[in-house]
Amino acid sequence: MRFAGKTVVVTGSGRQKGLGQGILQRFADEGANCVVSDLTIDSEAEAVTEEIRGRGAKVAVIACDVSDAAQCSALVEQSVAVFGGVDIFVNNAGIGFMMKPMLEVDPKDWATVIAVNLSGAFYCTQAAARAMVAAGKGGRIINIASQAAKTGFPHLPAYVSSKHGMVGLTRATAVELGAHGITVNAVCPNHVTTGLGAQQNEYFSKLLGFESVEAYLENMAAKNPMGRPGLPSDTAAACAWLASDDAFYVTGEAINVSGGEEMH
Ligand SMILES: NC(=O)c1ccc[n+]([C@@H]2O[C@H](COP(=O)([O-])OP(=O)(O)OC[C@H]3O[C@@H](n4cnc5c(N)ncnc54)[C@H](O)[C@@H]3O)[C@@H](O)[C@H]2O)c1
Repeated sequence: MRFAGKTVVVTGSGRQKGLGQGILQRFADEGANCVVSDLTIDSEAEAVTEEIRGRGAKVAVIACDVSDAAQCSALVEQSVAVFGGVDIFVNNAGIGFMMKPMLEVDPKDWATVIAVNLSGAFYCTQAAARAMVAAGKGGRIINIASQAAKTGFPHLPAYVSSKHGMVGLTRATAVELGAHGITVNAVCPNHVTTGLGAQQNEYFSKLLGFESVEAYLENMAAKNPMGRPGLPSDTAAACAWLASDDAFYVTGEAINVSGGEEMH
């Protein structure tokens, strides 16, 4: 129960089998108070909330469109109002399903992806850090970047750029927030079959000429040194370690959780 009495907020955590739910499951199992947050609180977000509550955690559910700075501030303020503080903030909200060749990307699509994946992480980081600095107890900020933060992928120019930007945000904020006992790190998962991941599977299996999604995933597993794609629990375990006392001296890092697919 390493996180008993601590509060964790995870943006974009209202999708079943998403990385956000997986991260909250791990923190709930280790005693944290949990804030489920998503663009809208629909029946799926309610189901995630109930599942996390069923693990024995105290849970709040708060809507937040991370592309709106005011909503990011409100998310932090409401979390503080409910639980008395925010100790761990995970920037997980993201969109990665707008696949198009680079030459055909519409400026609006580009702006949408950057607004959510990168600007959203900045607005939330700023809001969470302000609350952590005011509380004077340090804190942990964790950015869910991607393997796409370390290397290029076809037909995802805005996504790849936003995730590389997240690593820059991680480093820039880490150097300033260390003085307040706040660490800032990124986690870079490889492919995970979530809602977002499933849409990528459909698209890339066709683009690369596989006869089925299953054949595409088998090929992916065969090429991975650990023999399988990622799971939400892999990313969750890295988040829990980064949020633990053991990782106090680790900041500004972008840690691959990719079964060895990415090594730099
Ligand atoms: N699935 C993968 O293969 C993979 C790999 C590496 C990184 N990631 C990253 O992990 C994170 C979670 O993705 P996932 O795979 O669980 O997919 P997902 O689609 O289940 O989760 C993304 C969440 O972000 C939410 N969201 C979208 N726009 C939002 C907005 N404006 N404000 C607030 N929330 C918003 C969605 O509603 C959803 O709940 C994303 O940042 C994604 O880029 C995913």
